Amino acid sequence: MKIYVTDDYKGMSRKAANILSAQVILKPNSVLGLATGSTPEGMYAQLVDWYRKGDLDFAAVKTVNLDEYVGLEPTHEQSYRYFMQHHLFDHVNINPANTNVPDGLAADPAAECAWYNQVIRDMGGIDLQVLGVGGNGHIGFNEPGRAFELETHVVNLKEETISANSRFFASRDDVPRQAMTMGIKSIMMAKKILLMASGEAKAEALRLALTGPVTPEVPASILQLHPYVTLVADKAAASKLEGLV
Ligand code: GLP
Repeated sequence: MKIYVTDDYKGMSRKAANILSAQVILKPNSVLGLATGSTPEGMYAQLVDWYRKGDLDFAAVKTVNLDEYVGLEPTHEQSYRYFMQHHLFDHVNINPANTNVPDGLAADPAAECAWYNQVIRDMGGIDLQVLGVGGNGHIGFNEPGRAFELETHVVNLKEETISANSRFFASRDDVPRQAMTMGIKSIMMAKKILLMASGEAKAEALRLALTGPVTPEVPASILQLHPYVTLVADKAAASKLEGLV
């Protein structure tokens, strides 16, 4: 695993944007697996900036997002489709038809997940998957204790995830209880992974994920078995990675 430790959030965002840009420059028709959350926001802002300066071209890029809340319409401000439009897609020359996020309003979420798996296969798999990590070690919405073998599927969110994400909603009751997420199997099939983490609140999750045993209790720990992971973390998030950095 290649590890970059930066001074702060800004440095993490810039380094991650560099890695994603390199991917797009080297392979203009890359399939990018994208993530939402506060962690990658700065990276997307940096990519938009470089696009505006003429340094990046998304014309042939295809994207597939990790996850989406069940029950939120694409225009809902907390939906992940809205996040992606707002932070990246609306500001660069990506073909909207080449952007994929599970449909939160799908009448049959399980069928939507099966369709999503086919979309990923039809694109030839993911070249570079961006990941943040939850405070409990989740990646995407793969909560602790779920089987590693799953592709995209419907999950019931853990109480701690509902609480953590309630900061974005008017009240805790407004946070959806279910989501569709690429499974660990889908994530592990990506050719390369870019794991990002910022802040002290992620330090313990990173320590468990990268230096502890590989166990479904810490979903991100599976990344120890992936052949091509790059971690970009700021000092605070990397503060417990003794022996690794
Ligand atoms: C959510 C998302 C994850 C994300 C995690 C951490 O639950 N489904 O993909 O990595 O939260 O979010 P943040 O980056 O805001 O800390």
